[in-house]
Amino acid sequence: LTTTLAALLLGYLLGSIPFGLILTRLAGLGDIRAIGSGNIGTTNVLRTGRKDLAAATLILDALKGTAAVLLARHFWGDGAAVFAGLAAFVGHLFPIWLKFKGGKGVATYLGLLAAFAWPIAIFFALVWVLVAFTTRYSSASALTASLLSPIGLLLMGYQREALLFTVLSVALWVMHRANIGRLLNGTESRIGKKA
Ligand code: G3P
Repeated sequence: LTTTLAALLLGYLLGSIPFGLILTRLAGLGDIRAIGSGNIGTTNVLRTGRKDLAAATLILDALKGTAAVLLARHFWGDGAAVFAGLAAFVGHLFPIWLKFKGGKGVATYLGLLAAFAWPIAIFFALVWVLVAFTTRYSSASALTASLLSPIGLLLMGYQREALLFTVLSVALWVMHRANIGRLLNGTESRIGKKA
């Protein structure tokens, strides 16, 4: 039980670090939550026009998920790694530092996939890029990639991971409900458009 709690705490604390917010603030861009969609993730950081900060946000928001899993696995084993991964995702979505209003989970989802089933992380990234290239919608790309990834996991024989990532995908879709609404009524903003 103590290792489970430790894994949950470690995951949550790592996951709740809002890199998009921190990096844009350090760069003197003000509060990212007052820009574009108001989200703290890569896509919205890109709306500031700073590709470098967007790339750093993507990498760090992904790596915090990867790190949570690898650290927990190293210290406490495979079971704890699952708890740490889940907690990192929850931490990103609901960070205590931001009154529980965090991001939508795309980068962290990718970082967790890298830790649990790296071939499917590549698959996720490929699907994302393909949809982004054809539609220019970041949200649609993430929604499609997260829909197909659990299926990919199942087909590749990652049974338990498929279950875990199905749960994460449902959460990711729920977090994108406003984006889904905008996609349906044609008002979602495209990648490359500044805020
Ligand atoms: O998937 C994150 C991105 O899908 C949506 O970000 O800022 O357009 O709501 P945003």
